[in-house]
Amino acid sequence: MAFEFNNRQWVLTESGRSWPLTELAARESRPFYLYDLADARTRTKAFVKGGARVHYALKANSHPRLLRMLATEGLGVDVVSLGELQKALSCGFAADKIIFSGVGKGHEELSLACGKQIFQINVESFEELKMLEGIAKGLGKVARVALRLNIHVTAPTHKNIQTATEESKFGIDMRQLPDVLEWLKGKSSLELTGLAVHVGSQIMEMGVFADVSRKTGEIFNSVTAKGFAMKHLDLGGGLGLDYKIPGHEDLNRLPEYFKAIMGQHGTGAGVVLEPGRFLVARMGVLAAQVVHVKQGINRQFAILNAGMNALMRPALYQAYHRIELLSGPAGAGAEKKQAYTIVGPLCETTDTFADSRELSPLQAGDWVGIFDTGAYGAVMANTYNEMPLPAQWSILDGKLEVL
Ligand code: LLP
Repeated sequence: MAFEFNNRQWVLTESGRSWPLTELAARESRPFYLYDLADARTRTKAFVKGGARVHYALKANSHPRLLRMLATEGLGVDVVSLGELQKALSCGFAADKIIFSGVGKGHEELSLACGKQIFQINVESFEELKMLEGIAKGLGKVARVALRLNIHVTAPTHKNIQTATEESKFGIDMRQLPDVLEWLKGKSSLELTGLAVHVGSQIMEMGVFADVSRKTGEIFNSVTAKGFAMKHLDLGGGLGLDYKIPGHEDLNRLPEYFKAIMGQHGTGAGVVLEPGRFLVARMGVLAAQVVHVKQGINRQFAILNAGMNALMRPALYQAYHRIELLSGPAGAGAEKKQAYTIVGPLCETTDTFADSRELSPLQAGDWVGIFDTGAYGAVMANTYNEMPLPAQWSILDGKLEVL
């Protein structure tokens, strides 16, 4: 088990060694992310057993040490920009382990992807497909293409992370597919290798994955029946987590997920998956210091030195993260808890991590941990209000590294 509350403080136990989080904090003046990379490795090993070809969605966390570890594990990767593509290549992912998704791939991105002969380019519009054909022809290459379809699924998740409603910018609307296929006939610089979908993120209902798999599988079979010999069915990412509780039980949900995904598509294709959050969210804690405990009239604010600049999820999606006092004079939790509105220092009302959160009594100078922030944390951090970017610390096989 990774992070635990032990002897009046939160510690990370790894390779037989315990790292008290406040001892690490004592070496750092900035807010910092701490990653337990072994946790991501354990999850990865469990995930690949599901029988799909796994391409980690690098957007969730692009920390180089994480990427090198995943590449060593033999994982593939899913990228969405030139920068992500270059980072994947530089961290050890071979070109034939890379999928390139994204709605705005232009000339430069497609040229590099095509020139490197990556595993699969997930094309998201007819316009992009035509551009890619011109590029591939010019380079004398055959680009391996999957068509990312919008199959009209309103996933049960926050509306800001749904990606397949009818009005979504993502994917080729499935009603346009016949025209696209007609156009593709005889295009010798494009090889249609598969279909791809991704309907949203932080999805907890397994029935959604089963429906998506079935629906996409039916479309897949209708396309192969038209003479396109496709090989891959890319069903995207999206598997969610219960952020209200620690992650010890997460892996127990994988059999149900894979049953939904693998059992329903009804094709002879190899299934490709692009998990992000599930692999890396639990490995991360954002540590931040209390600047003031401010007494209001009806509420008590804990003002941290990290705000929505360091972690945007609560501000953008009203996301819940467990927040704990890492240790300190009042840190054992034996004292009566108090309710805090936990906020950042930025000049934005939405810079709020939690309302009325019950915590052990806090005082200025205490460090708190915001848990399960390994996914979509550091990668979305920014310098609004000229705030510094949070540091990133990682522990793997007994070694601590600071970035
Ligand atoms: N594949 C594609 C094409 C995607 O767009 C995404 C995520 C994934 C895979 C990985 O999805 P996951 O397994 O992580 O759910 N910033 C938001 C999440 C945005 C997800 C964007 N796309 C958040 O913090 O909740």
